[in-house]
Formats: sequence, C-alpha cells, structure tokens
Amino acid sequence: MSAFKLLLLPGDGIGPEIAAEAEKVIALLTRAGVAQFEIERGLVGGAAYDAHGVAISEDDMKRAHAADAVLLAAVGGPKWDGVPYDVRPEAGLLRLRKDLGLFANLRPAICYPALADASSLKREVVDGLDIMIVRELTGGVYFGEPKEIVDLGEGQKRAVDTQVYETFEIERIGRVAFELARKRGNKVTSSDKANVMKSGYLWREVVTALHKREYADVQLEHMLADALAMQLVRWPKQFDVVVTDNLFGDMLSDEASMLTGSLGMLPSASLGAPDEKGKRKAMYEPCHGSAPDIAGKGVANPIAMIGSVGMALRYSFDLPKAADAIEAAIGGVLAKGLRTADIKGNAPSSVSTSAMGDAIVAELAKALG
Ligand code: NAD
Ligand code: IPM
Ligand code: MN
Repeated sequence: MSAFKLLLLPGDGIGPEIAAEAEKVIALLTRAGVAQFEIERGLVGGAAYDAHGVAISEDDMKRAHAADAVLLAAVGGPKWDGVPYDVRPEAGLLRLRKDLGLFANLRPAICYPALADASSLKREVVDGLDIMIVRELTGGVYFGEPKEIVDLGEGQKRAVDTQVYETFEIERIGRVAFELARKRGNKVTSSDKANVMKSGYLWREVVTALHKREYADVQLEHMLADALAMQLVRWPKQFDVVVTDNLFGDMLSDEASMLTGSLGMLPSASLGAPDEKGKRKAMYEPCHGSAPDIAGKGVANPIAMIGSVGMALRYSFDLPKAADAIEAAIGGVLAKGLRTADIKGNAPSSVSTSAMGDAIVAELAKALG
C-alpha cells in the first residue's frame, strides 16, 4: 500500500472544526486500505502568530516542503486585525503558496443535483453546472513589487500594489488550463482586462500564441473580467475551464461558489510544477475563509474541506477512484436531504459540522467496502 505524508494546518476560526471532519475521512481511507496516510500537524495564521509571533514558523515551512501534500483549512479573523502587515494571518497562506511555487490554483464549481434549488439563482441556470476556474496563484498584484505605503507628509500617504506578469507565468498557467480542458469540455475562456491593463494585454497575447502553437484543438475565447463576472450569473453553463489572474480568480471563484449553493462547497488544489520524477508540490484548501461569524458554533459546512481531500487524492496521490468515491459520498448525503445551515435552502432543518462529516464518512465507508 502506498504511504503518504500530509501536513495538516487547521488554522483559525472554523478551520479546526472542518479540519477535524477531513481527518475522519483520511482515517477511513487508511482503514479501508486505500493508502496509508501519516498526518503531521502544524500552525498557520493567527494560531501561529499567537504561538510564535509569525504567520507560519520556519519549522512548519520545512515540514510543508517535506510533506507529500499540505492540507490547510482557513486563516484569519478579527482577533488579528491590528497585527503588523507582515505577520497577519493571511501572510502564512501567501508564503506557503509562494515558497512552495504553487502557481496553479484549481477551483471547481460543481452544482450537485440535490442543491440546484439551494443557489440564489434559478434551478435551470445552475442545474448540472461544472466549471473549473484556474487561478494563477503566485504572481500578479498579490506579489508584485513595489508593494508599499509611502508617507508623503502632511497627513498624506500613498499605497502602491503592483500588478505584474511575465510571459513564462502566463504560459505555464495557460498550459494547465488547456490540458485540463482536453480532459473535460475542451473549451477555455481566458479572462483579463486587456482593454485597460498592460498585464492584461500581455496575458491575452501569450494565451493566444500558446493556443495557436500547441492547443489549436481546444476552443479558446477571451472575455473581459467584468463581463465574465456578469456572464457567471447570467448563463454560467457556457463555461468549461476559465483561466485568469490571481486577483480576478479570487473574486470570480467566490462568485462562482454561490452557483453551487454555498461558499462552503468549493474545494481547491494549489499545484506547483512537476519535478524530474513528475511529482508536484501541492496544497489543498477550501476556497472560503475562517468564517468568524460562525466560528465555534459547530455549524460550518465541512464539504469544501472534505472535497479538498478528494482533490488531493486526484492530483497528488493518483487515486482517482477514491476521489470519485468522496465526491459521490458528498452527493449521496446531499441527495438524502442533509444540509448544514449555509446550504439549507428549503430543507426542513440543518445538521452540525460533525453530523455532516459523520454522514459523509458513513456513505464513503459503504462505497469503499
Ligand atoms: P469567509 O469566507 O470566511 O466568510 C464569508 C461568508 O461565508 C461568512 O458569512 C461565512 O460564515 C460564510 N462561510 C464561509 N465558509 C463557510 C463554511 N464552510 N460553512 C458555512 N458558512 C461559511 O470570508 P470573510 O468573512 O470575508 O473572511 C474572514 C477571514 O478569512 C478573513 O481574515 C480573510 O482574510 C480570511 N480568508 C481566509 C481564506 C483562507 O484561509 N483560504 C480564504 C478567504 C478568506
Ligand atoms: C483565498 C483567500 C486568500 C486570497 C486570502 C485569505 C489571502 O481569499 O484563498 O481565496 O486572497 O487568495
Ligand atoms: Mn478568496
């Protein structure tokens, strides 16, 4: 049986609550003989700040590099609003992405049939929806230099963030999108602001050239990011793979989450480039945050977190059948009417985080025999 080392970073807010449900799933996978998973635990975000004064310790960074995959739940919260910028909880997440070279962020928005009525949009708009948002994750305005606040005197300051992309960064994320499209609906929508931004102009030029050179068999369209935001709520089923930059990808994926019923539904995979043995560094995490408004109440939806374990099986551990089984187990419990409060829709009542996790584990156990 293959053995894998996972670094689990529960983080803040609802993070530890949903991480506990992911651990139940991983324990079942080990028990059922799918693979042997060894879980190490670390601190990130506010939890790391409280313990060490930084958003992630050097020790945990080392363990992240050494792990076969990192599983992160969520970081942040009002408790750390006043801490210095460099050690704010989110800095831990950004450092993991940057230092591990996780440039490709896959954010699938799938509307499970049972949740077609839970979206704020009409059933016919979202029923059967299956979009893959491919977000560039280590470049753009998140990391561009200069990034600073300059004191101009007389009570005036100037804040600067720099949006910057180089050809190789656009090419490698474009390639990820085209390769994924070939295994799905064979269509890529590339989104930018080529009408305003130099980086958008280059983005479009590079994606167009890559398509012509290597992926002419895939359908490619370009759509301005503001128009795409509109089309996502007008007629989202027109999209298959959407590839976009770091900031647009962040916003568009939160928007897309509401087509699936709840932000608590969207998992993600953040992948690096394959090494000489074909192995990629990877981190798996829900798209949502630490949900401070519901933290500690035991009502958070663990599905994005459990779905992220499924993505780890698919993209890091070459266990696609087990990944399918996790998605089927999630679909199964939803079909039975189980809902956490965020996806309640017109269901008569909602269940706790742990009841949802237990139900998914029970469903998965049946499938794994
Ligand atoms: P959020 O995603 O934490 O919450 C937005 C809304 O969605 C809230 O009403 C919340 O209750 C709800 N929600 C989110 N996940 C849910 C779940 N699993 N189940 C049920 N409801 C859920 O975004 P926010 O409130 O803007 O940010 C809170 C903190 O989280 C901030 O510090 C932010 O920086 C951080 N954040 C972290 C990550 C991450 O760790 N990957 C992602 C986004 C935001
Ligand atoms: C996400 C989050 C992060 C981002 C924050 C917490 C740094 O919103 O993962 O979507 O902006 O990338
Ligand atoms: Mn986000």
